[in-house]
Amino acid sequence: IDLLVHSSGGNATSPIAYGLMHEDINNSGDGGIYAELIRNRAFQGSEKFPSSLEAWTPFNGASALSLKKLCTPLSAALPYSLNVAPKSATTQQGKIGIVNSGFWGMDVRAEQKYSGSFYVKGGYEGHFTASLQSVITGEVFAAVKVEGVSSGETGGWVRREFTIVPGKTAGNSNNTFAITFDAAGVKNGSLNFNLISLFPPTYKNRPNGLRIDIAEALAELKPKFLRFPGGNMLEGDTLTTYWKWNETIGPLKDRPGMAGVWQYQLTTGLGLVEYMEWCDDMNLEPIVAVWDGLALDGNYVPQSQIGEVVQYALDELEFLTGDAATTKWGAVRASLGHPRPWKIKYVEIGNEDWLAGRPTAYDTYKQYRFQAFLTAFNDKYPNIQVIASPSVFDGMVIPAPGAGDYHPYLTPDKFVAAFDKFDNLSKQNLTLIGEAAATHPNGGIGWDGNLMANPWWGGSVGEAIFLIGAERNSEKVIGATYAPGLRNLNRWQWGMTLLQHAADPALTTRSTSWHVWRLLGSHVLTQTLPVTAQSGGIRPLYYVAGKSEGTHVFKAAVYNATQPVEISLRFEGMTAKGQTAALTVLRGPQDPYGVNDPFTQINVVNETTLAVAADEGGVFRFSLPHLSVAVLELAGN
Ligand code: AHR
Repeated sequence: IDLLVHSSGGNATSPIAYGLMHEDINNSGDGGIYAELIRNRAFQGSEKFPSSLEAWTPFNGASALSLKKLCTPLSAALPYSLNVAPKSATTQQGKIGIVNSGFWGMDVRAEQKYSGSFYVKGGYEGHFTASLQSVITGEVFAAVKVEGVSSGETGGWVRREFTIVPGKTAGNSNNTFAITFDAAGVKNGSLNFNLISLFPPTYKNRPNGLRIDIAEALAELKPKFLRFPGGNMLEGDTLTTYWKWNETIGPLKDRPGMAGVWQYQLTTGLGLVEYMEWCDDMNLEPIVAVWDGLALDGNYVPQSQIGEVVQYALDELEFLTGDAATTKWGAVRASLGHPRPWKIKYVEIGNEDWLAGRPTAYDTYKQYRFQAFLTAFNDKYPNIQVIASPSVFDGMVIPAPGAGDYHPYLTPDKFVAAFDKFDNLSKQNLTLIGEAAATHPNGGIGWDGNLMANPWWGGSVGEAIFLIGAERNSEKVIGATYAPGLRNLNRWQWGMTLLQHAADPALTTRSTSWHVWRLLGSHVLTQTLPVTAQSGGIRPLYYVAGKSEGTHVFKAAVYNATQPVEISLRFEGMTAKGQTAALTVLRGPQDPYGVNDPFTQINVVNETTLAVAADEGGVFRFSLPHLSVAVLELAGN
């Protein structure tokens, strides 16, 4: 295939071509990127997931644990607390206490500082001990004394803080955290505990922050935006259980948590402010999805009440962007340690409104719900790009100046067939690819068939071809993100993710798709350039070319080739004999269904970078095998 990349023409690209999407699915927030080590730290519950003692056991079996709804709870948001009593109220001596098994274990590292805290209510003469220990051997890696409850403090809730620095790294993550105390020192029969928290060091040292290894693996993708908080999590199951932004801000003791839509209760410790801090720390453009009055059960807010829902979203924007001195919600944000308003350029109205409760609920979105938000946001925030949760590909005519959101979850063949999906899109129909992943193998299996358990190489190459097609149209495509991004190996609902993780950081595994999205996302184009095929053409080689900061870039992927594709590539007016370009190629395993499995630690994606020298005519010659993804980078603009 002979290709000529022209020196002019093409279009300026979106500045946020690749990004991230996050909602709490697969324990990707709690037990995932949110670094908290204690599971069920505040006994939060809901109608769907009643408060429980999940993850808690008595220390040495010596204490009786129960959940109590005290007359004086820690806070209105956290009505339940953990009551701990000696098993024998009159005769028991020795240590009793509580043990938390974490998010299926805890990573314990020598010299690492663990910051802990808990609330306790009741009389206790003596000191508490906070410790980290092995489940298997009982070895205690670290233990610190924590002040007891003086007689003057008895009666109210008191907060204790502590720091644990283990002297030794645990051999595995099968470890627990415990708070113990002397049975004999307990006054009035029992003690009550709540909001028991333990954080390892976090990404960029944020209090209440992100788990470092997971955040770093996401940052390696060089993302430019973060779409949050969903996804289905935003919508909630019912009209009363949506993601309420105002209940995810402020002190943790004032956050009630919420019934997750993915089979577990959420702490919302990773709340609105934490999402914004994540954006700050990775330099990401926030794409804030606001609740729009649709629930996953198909119920929706009637037209007569939509104004309240719009106002709720406007309040959220005021919280994020309002002046601290002159706006109510801006002042609240300032009181939480963020006096400077954030800048928001993108707001999405709902999530997948074309899906839940269709056709009726979708009709209401088309008839009045989207327009109500669009009008209100355009009036108050004319510089914000409002995005509808369906795209024009979902049968929605999106009123100007709205954009759309397209979520392809496809087979590899269908991704490849969608290579030219955006070619005929009008510039008025700006589209975000707010979620995308190869989910099913080829063979015509739709949503009734099994989702794949992992991203697999053939699927990842299919995604690459679709993304290259989107990049060719990057003046119409706001950006693209894989979803869902993360998956805890101990409890998950969707197998296809960029990263898999567990308590042990050694299990954090970059999937085949992570490699593909990283290669494409870390070579962003600032302008596309037309490519003319002198011989050959699109299929089985799919490509895009353009300029980047100080470089020219050619991206390509090969699919359904019977032999390696021989490529002769010339950049008009750019190259002379001997000039070199860096060619990075991702190749997969023989088996297109090969996956990156955390338990074997085998990475099936082979990445090579080599220098290719231009020949006499300034032509770069190289070949790409079947099922490969490549980027060629040439210095110079
Ligand atoms: O990414 C998983 C789910 O897929 C999202 O919650 C939803 O938006 C989509 O249907």
